[in-house]
Amino acid sequence: MSGFPEVRMRRFRRTAGLRRLVRETALHASQLIWPLFIKTSGSVSPVESMPGVHRHPLDLVSDLARLAATRGLGGVLLFGLPDEKDEAGSGAYDDGGVVQEAIRRMKEAEPDLNVITDVCLCAYTSHGHCGVLTEGIVDNDQTLDLLARTAVSHAKAGADIVAPSDMMDGRVGAIRAALDDHAFGLLPIMSYAAKYASAFYGPFREAADSSPEHGDRRGYQMDPANVEEAMREIALDLDEGADIIMVKPGLPYLDVIQRAKEMFGGPLAAYQVSGEYAMIKLAGTAGAIDERLAMRESIIALRRAGADIVISYDAILLSEELEAGAFDR
Ligand code: PBG
Repeated sequence: MSGFPEVRMRRFRRTAGLRRLVRETALHASQLIWPLFIKTSGSVSPVESMPGVHRHPLDLVSDLARLAATRGLGGVLLFGLPDEKDEAGSGAYDDGGVVQEAIRRMKEAEPDLNVITDVCLCAYTSHGHCGVLTEGIVDNDQTLDLLARTAVSHAKAGADIVAPSDMMDGRVGAIRAALDDHAFGLLPIMSYAAKYASAFYGPFREAADSSPEHGDRRGYQMDPANVEEAMREIALDLDEGADIIMVKPGLPYLDVIQRAKEMFGGPLAAYQVSGEYAMIKLAGTAGAIDERLAMRESIIALRRAGADIVISYDAILLSEELEAGAFDR
């Protein structure tokens, strides 16, 4: 036998049952992480460029925790929107800060929910950069101490995992050492290891009001043209003690995910970032694509490429679709 007509690939494509039998990639709600924007007070406000995404006040975070737990999600990923910003991003490592308070309330409402926190300064600095500035340049080594303080502060509030997203060199090691010093030796770090300087973060920066006031993030985030360098970034973060590595954005970087998985194994996370999410939602609204089909296809593609964990603003809807069997058809 040498192929057609003895071999017909269409035999397993004929019915949903046959397709399901030979399906290679599955998704579970426990593999989804739901990013949330938390503000101190006021009412729920929509993020204009991200249909379906809102900024939530502290008053409502217990409800969000209960929803995430009911849906069986793998966790929530918290981003804080402080009332005040300053040069040193001090709101990030304030024990009474918005994220710290959100962690306490969510853990009280749902002790078993994984509360993960983004560790970065950009939403807290007046200049919008991910670290402190010395003569207008992001000062790597001065920033490390502040990131470590932020992570410890999140840990003290009850965070289950800390996730540094700043892309300073050496930050995983600095955070690991500080956590260990404060008796958080068993707290895992999910490192945004291969984080690219991407145009797809646009809507997030509207949500977090975190666009750099001058310049851009190319001085610390990765060049989209590079993949060998991503492997070096990941290897360094693992050496420094990262427990979960992340590739970000997701869909434009499937090759990076695949190589990371082949080279390092898991746990590996992929972040479907704000711009990827917005493209699908807005193209759906415009009638150009079927939003739900496109969303599910994108998420499965991240899993197929090798991501064990997927971070998506659509985690709730996706978990409902999983339960309703939409992924099985
Ligand atoms: C903070 C941070 C950003 C995102 C996650 N953490 C913004 C940035 O680096 O500019 C982007 C997430 C998204 O676009 O959904 N450094």
